Amino acid sequence: MPTGTATETRLVLTDDQVRGLAKLGTPLYVIDEGHLRRRIRRYLAAFKSAWPNSELTFASKANSTLAVVKIAYQEGLLIDVASEGELRAALKAGVPASRCHLHGNNKKPGEIRFAIEQGINQIVVDNFEEIELIGGLEGKKPDIMIRLAPGVDPKTHAKISTGQADTKFGFNIADGSGEKALLRCLELGLDVKGYHCHVGSQLLDPEAQVSGGELLAQFATDMKAKHGYETQVINVGGGLGVHYVGDAVPLSVEEYCRQLVASISKALEPSGLRPMLVQEPGRSIIGESGVTLYEVGVVKTVPSPTKGHRVYVAVDGGLSDNPRPVMYGSKYDLVATSGDGRTFGPTRPTTVSGKHCETDMLFEDVMLPEDLRPGDFVQVLVTGAYNSAMASNYNRYQRPGTALVRESGEAVLVQRPESWDEMFAREILPEGL
Ligand SMILES: Cc1ncc(COP(=O)(O)O)c(C=O)c1O
Repeated sequence: MPTGTATETRLVLTDDQVRGLAKLGTPLYVIDEGHLRRRIRRYLAAFKSAWPNSELTFASKANSTLAVVKIAYQEGLLIDVASEGELRAALKAGVPASRCHLHGNNKKPGEIRFAIEQGINQIVVDNFEEIELIGGLEGKKPDIMIRLAPGVDPKTHAKISTGQADTKFGFNIADGSGEKALLRCLELGLDVKGYHCHVGSQLLDPEAQVSGGELLAQFATDMKAKHGYETQVINVGGGLGVHYVGDAVPLSVEEYCRQLVASISKALEPSGLRPMLVQEPGRSIIGESGVTLYEVGVVKTVPSPTKGHRVYVAVDGGLSDNPRPVMYGSKYDLVATSGDGRTFGPTRPTTVSGKHCETDMLFEDVMLPEDLRPGDFVQVLVTGAYNSAMASNYNRYQRPGTALVRESGEAVLVQRPESWDEMFAREILPEGL
């Protein structure tokens, strides 16, 4: 598939949109509201048609910009928060805590107390310390989900594999920790709603999530037989991938949900259990609804021992607004737009670098126009997830703003670019230093 092709699901801005949006300042994250709403509706419909007693929760770690969280909530999603900060973001977006659930492998007591005070819907417990802490608290307790490590290798990048046995997340099923966790919760009088797992991210087919779901179903069956405990909810986490580049295209959400539900419901059959099924997607909700715009600053050709020569295009962002290429070796499709409306000539392999002090090759050997020059723009596709959420101030760059293209076509800033005052607001120079 050629670079930058709009597929069924990916947002690609038109040249006019790019030139208009760039006036808000680059780098700029852009989210298309209509695209996002349609994606959520499609995912919800696909899951409901496969299993009517189901809910979707948006993993807000993927993008906790308030406008995004609010849209997800308006469309009927629950909100998964993985920290007090993400919970505060949801609250600020107008989402009641009763529509949120709290994750985390090392939640601080203060975080747990804050969530409970706010009336959190569920806490997904991850370790025995947390169970004891919640069990020992006075007053009304939240509903509990037990995070299980089913021992599944999702065959994705190691840094986004979470469901294998050797993981910091959750209670291992095979070594009996999951059962002990359930029994301890029940002993403490906690209201356990069910089981949760999240096997990994950027999964192109449901195989790993299916295995995780089946192991949870098996566990639920065992716990019913041994202890009479009947789970009401099975949450199989997020994980469905997005189409970043080439032919690594995820299964359609309809087929993904169908296959996932078919195998979990089969695994549940002998137990007679018919719990609510929950998925917790992040990337596959928001990833393809977002792009990042950069302005080209420098075009340079240098000798290369392996290639003869290499063309570098330096854009006005990099590692601080998209650490994924450096963290995971992530690849993206790019689309160029001329700043002055001219038509581009042929393309050539180009390395796009950022402004940072390391060799932050953002995108290597992407096909970009030979006559790309300073003042032109590139949009990086499928950057709605884990981009603005992972932005930093490295090299003291201001974090970019986010524009929302409304359904009317109007673009509004939903997150301003960071100001210099904001950058230095936390600094304290002690007197006499
Ligand atoms: C517990 C949990 N749920 C959901 C997600 C969302 O995953 P994805 O964005 O791949 O759908 C993650 C991602 O790390 C996670 O850790």
